[in-house]
Parts: sequence; C-alpha cells; structure tokens
Amino acid sequence: MTVALNGQTIFITGSGGVLGTAYVNAMLENGATVIGSDLPGHRADAMKERFGANPNFAYYDLDMGDEDAIVGIFQKMAADGLNPNVVLNNAAITGELLMGAGKPFPDFANTSISDWEKTLRINLTAPFLIARQMDRDIVGKYPAKLINVASMYALNGPHHQIYEGMPFKSFSAYSTTKAGIHGLTLWLAGYWAKRDCTVNTIAPGAVFNGHSDEFQRRVGELIMAGRMADPKEIADVMIFLCSENARYMTGQLVNVDGGFSGW
Ligand SMILES: NC(=O)c1ccc[n+]([C@@H]2O[C@H](COP(=O)([O-])OP(=O)(O)OC[C@H]3O[C@@H](n4cnc5c(N)ncnc54)[C@H](O)[C@@H]3O)[C@@H](O)[C@H]2O)c1
Repeated sequence: MTVALNGQTIFITGSGGVLGTAYVNAMLENGATVIGSDLPGHRADAMKERFGANPNFAYYDLDMGDEDAIVGIFQKMAADGLNPNVVLNNAAITGELLMGAGKPFPDFANTSISDWEKTLRINLTAPFLIARQMDRDIVGKYPAKLINVASMYALNGPHHQIYEGMPFKSFSAYSTTKAGIHGLTLWLAGYWAKRDCTVNTIAPGAVFNGHSDEFQRRVGELIMAGRMADPKEIADVMIFLCSENARYMTGQLVNVDGGFSGW
C-alpha cells in the first residue's frame, strides 16, 4: 500500500521491536522522516545498522522509565532540527520482550508488585509523560497527531488455555495497561481538539514472530482470518493513521486483528 507521508516527521518510542521496525521501514518507504528511539542495546544497534544510512532516519536512546529524559526529548530533537508532528507511543513491556530476555511468566497468584508496577510505569505512565511533553512543547504550535498503542488484549480477554505449555503467557498488567491507554486517548482527543491535535489508538492483533506451529494453530482458531498477522499488515494501517488521510479521525480505537474482536 502506498500512502504519502511526505512532510510528516514521525517520532516512535520502542522502535527497535518487532512492530516498531516494520513501522520505521514502511514510514521511510512512504516518504516520512522517522525518528526512532529505544533502550540502548542490541535492538537499538540493529535499528541503527539497518536504517542509519538513510538521511530521513534519526535515532535517540530513550528509556521510557526515565522522566527527565522524556521531559527533554522534544527539545533535544528540536535542537537537531527535528520537530515531529506525529508521535507514536509504541514502547511497551511485552510478552515478546520478556520471553526474549528469558524472564519467567509467573502465575497470577505469584505476580509481584514490582513486576506489576514496572509494567504500569512503562506501558501507561510513560505514554502519559510523552503526551504531557507534547502538550508543553508541540500541541497548538502546529497540527499534530498522537497514536497510542493498545492490543487485542485491551478490550477482549485472553483465552488462557492457548498458552498452556508455551514459553510465554499473557500477563495481567499488560492487559490492564493496554485497556488503560485507550482511556488516555479518549481524554486527550477532546482536550486537544481545538489545538489541532488528533489522538487515536491502534490495537494490533497477534503478530507472527517465529511462534510454533501449535501456537499458530491455537491462536489461529480464534481469529476470523485464521492466522497471525504479518508485521507489515499492522504497519499498513499505522501509516494510514500517520497520514493526512486520517485527519478527520480522533478519539478512535482501531482494531487490526484479523477479526479476533469481531466475533
Ligand atoms: N506483537 C504483537 O503481537 C502485539 C500485539 C498487540 C499489541 N502490540 C503492541 O505493539 C507495540 C510494539 O510491540 P512489539 O511486538 O514490537 O513488541 P517488542 O517487545 O518487540 O517491542 C517493544 C519495544 O519497546 C521497547 N521498550 C521496552 N521497555 C522500554 C523502555 N523502558 N524504554 C524504551 N523502550 C522500551 C523494547 O526495547 C522493544 O524494542 C507494543 O506496545 C505492544 O504492546 C504488539
């Protein structure tokens, strides 16, 4: 799909992940200037290696757990001549991330406050801090868009049995934060409407990332399309939301889940 993103400067948090990388790729292909950010580490390094030579790509280390870093990020970009008009709150503590880091997935009864609070901090408080900083530095100065990222597990519960015997699970704090972030979208959409800033939520479905045949079979049965998504299929909708074509949308939750939520 080709959607013109010329003239859009898009800032993405957590851009080194499975979907973030697909978004950056699609946005650059569609003519945007893209500002990636992530925790320092191998994902950030891979991102710089893949896109660093593209003159329309810039990258900043940004730990979403660091309030001071978030407070300074838009000024830092502006000092480098980058003024994003689209902001994508994409970074999150995800099952993918925890599995990749070899973290255990405790039962609900053994979920610690520290794991719960860390997930709330990165998946909900940090997007609030990004939005608060947009309010201070961007909103009202020029037309802008904020896109928050929820999940198929925001407004629909997981079928817990599909995780039996798998190296990962869905976890309660994740669903809680993904439901919560749409509340932030709804609150801000009206608050910023007169300052020409739209706010929407995208809720991706189950994205294929090397999952076993058995997991694909189990989750596929729950999805109208019968299969997991290719990251590009989520990116196609994301670039529409980032484009001027989406200018009359605000306060919406867009499910891109192959029909998981549509039964
Ligand atoms: N992949 C899916 O199936 C799926 C489904 C629904 C929603 N989502 C959502 O889409 C978004 C991207 O998911 P993904 O699949 O690419 O996951 P991912 O785990 O591959 O990527 C998440 C990224 O966030 C970054 N991150 C984590 N903590 C951070 C911090 N403190 N500071 C900065 N960056 C941090 C990670 O380094 C990683 O690059 C997430 O919000 C996720 O909840 C994904």
